[in-house]
Order: sequence, then structure tokens, then C-alpha cells
Amino acid sequence: MLRAGEQALLPVYAQMPVRPVSGRGAWLVDESGAEWLDAYGGHAVASTGHSHPRVVSAIAEQAGRLFFYSTAVPHPLREQLAAALAERCPGPLGRVFFCNSGAEANENALHLARKATGRKAVASVTGGWHGRTVATLACCDGRSYEAGAVRAGMALSARVAFDDVASLDSVLDDTMAALIVEPVQGMAGARDCSVEFLAAARRLCTERGIALLFDEVQCGVGRSGAFTAAELYGVVPDGLTLAKGLGSGYPIGAVVAGPMLAMGIGVGDLGSTFGGGPVACAAALATLSVIADEDLTGNAARVGAHIAAGARALGARKVWGRGLLLGLDFGRPAKELQQALFAHRILTGTSADPNVLRIMPPLTLTVHEADLLLAGLREVLA
Ligand SMILES: Cc1ncc(COP(=O)(O)O)c(C=O)c1O
Repeated sequence: MLRAGEQALLPVYAQMPVRPVSGRGAWLVDESGAEWLDAYGGHAVASTGHSHPRVVSAIAEQAGRLFFYSTAVPHPLREQLAAALAERCPGPLGRVFFCNSGAEANENALHLARKATGRKAVASVTGGWHGRTVATLACCDGRSYEAGAVRAGMALSARVAFDDVASLDSVLDDTMAALIVEPVQGMAGARDCSVEFLAAARRLCTERGIALLFDEVQCGVGRSGAFTAAELYGVVPDGLTLAKGLGSGYPIGAVVAGPMLAMGIGVGDLGSTFGGGPVACAAALATLSVIADEDLTGNAARVGAHIAAGARALGARKVWGRGLLLGLDFGRPAKELQQALFAHRILTGTSADPNVLRIMPPLTLTVHEADLLLAGLREVLA
């Protein structure tokens, strides 16, 4: 039975059976006052945990000082955040464009790649997922996503087989503007690429004049166990996109560009009214401080390894992922496990792989909370 307001929404989202009214750390409280353990993290967004007091007060303080002004004026927080991201991203990735979401970040990264190379075609990886604008849908793997791009007349990206170096070699050619790849594929089930694959992508893109774009919308901002997966893998792309966890849930996206993409970019080449607004930048700066001060990247690596080991002990036949972006394959329908965990008031995600349960909790998750998740899994698997 739908509530009155629900009927006014386009029914585009499957709904989890919880109506959260508040949250703290990895916990949500529903309308009845019951607590839920959130191993879904608001879709890998609640990086610093729900309503982290430092993020909340940074947002409130900035909202009270100057709620908004567009990019028509310089703002110190925008500059500080750009410098902080440049410092945290590897190598020459040093010029930042702010927008509001992951899809927008990828869309703008593709614009930059096409402008830098003067080429049109792009390549993506099977299992890849990059957003719901027409250009990003054209790079997503999945018939319903591709159909949206085709209806709009957009050519689909060429597809490199996941983690297949020979496929990289045969698909990438010198007509291509960009290869867009998630180092750890979120939607596919936290499938992590091998170092060899990303290193080969780097080498071939350089040889063939193609921009290498890392979509770190889901795996970035500490989730992989390093601030960027690029750092973890030791492979530096030409452009890297961030969103989801960057503002702890306050909408913000960013393209961090290296020299290939930044060269020749001037006034009017990209733009966004809201991108880099003061409250979004305050949220992101507070998020970065909390991640550093509470060593949340280290925590993601440690607690992620604990969950991976625990899942193997429970009989997982494969554990995908890095840090706190994990895909657990128990050879059982993930949808059923997810439903059964709801009964234990534990939220998890599914993925494009019907057997892979996706774990993407706040990076604050403790070993004790991870053990509660594992205990829930043990019960539903029994
Ligand atoms: C890897 C990846 N890229 C891009 C996006 C799109 O981000 P947004 O929903 O903020 O547009 C997502 C969202 O799930 C994602 O996981």
C-alpha cells in the first residue's frame, strides 16, 4: 500500500524496507525507533558516517555565513578544496572542476578528453557503470542503460573485456578520445581490476594518444583503502572523477585533471551553476579533514580485510573488491541474502551479478560492527 506522497513520485527506484529518520556513524534509526546497521552507506556515500558532527557543523556554519554564490565569483573554500584534492591525488593530477554528481563529473571528463584529443569515440569496460546522462549511459554496460543512449542518438562506447589485457590492445585504437574505467567496478559487484590491466591501459593509452579516465565516483575518497584507487594501484590516469563520499552526502562531484586534459582549457569550456558552491565545499573540506584525522582510509583497509576474511570463513567462494567496497559471492542469490538481512535490520547492496552481495558501509565501520554484519550473514546463510 503506497502512502499518499509516494504516488507523486515516479516509481524509478526499488525501495528498501526502512524509513530512516536519523543516523549516526554506521547506524540508522527508523520511524519506530529501531536501529539498523548500514552496510550500504546510502549507496557508498556516507563516507564519514551518518551526520558526522564535524561535517554537520561545517555545513551549518557556512550556510549561516554565505549559503550560496555561483562560480561567477572566486571563493576561498573552492580554492582550498581544489588544492586539497590536488594534494591527495597522485602525480600531476592537479586541476579541478567541480560539479554536483558522479554522472556530471564523468560527462565533463569525457568532454575534456574529446576536446584534448579532437576525437569522438570512447571505450569503456564490460561491467562498467558511469551515470545516467546520455554520454555516460553510452559507456554503461547493460541493455536498459544502453537503450537510453541509443534513443538519444548517442553512439555506444567500444567495450574492452573486463581485466583482459589482449582486449585492451585490440579495442583501443588511435580514433579514441578516452578509455573510462572504474578501478573497482561498483555496480558489477565490487569487481577489482588487476594491477596488470590498469598498467597496460596506462601504457596503451599513452602510446595511442588516448585519455585514461578513472571513474572513482564509488571507489574513491578513501573507500578502496587509499584516498584514490589510482594511488592504491600505482597507476596515474589523465583524469579522475570523484563524487558520492566527497561531501559525506552533500552533493558534490569533481573532475581532477592532469596536464593532457587541463591544457588549453579556458573560460567557458565547462560550467555549472551549483558546482563548487560554498556549502558543498565546506562539506567536502570537513569530510577530507575527518578522513585524515580519523584515519578512515586505514580503517577501510583494516575493516575491509576483516570482513573479507570473515566472509571467506563463512564459505564465500569469491570476495571481490578493495577496502570497504566488497562483493561477496556465496554462490547464492544475493537478492535473497539481502532480503534475509533486512529481517536482521542490516542493509547491504546487490549488484549486476546475481550472486554478489555488495558491502559499502561508512568508512567509520568498526571491527565490532563488521562482526555484527558477519554474524547476520552467518545466520542468514545457515
Ligand atoms: C562508478 C560510478 N560512476 C558514476 C556514478 C553516477 O553517480 P551519480 O549517481 O552521482 O550521478 C555512480 C553511481 O552509482 C557510480 O557508482
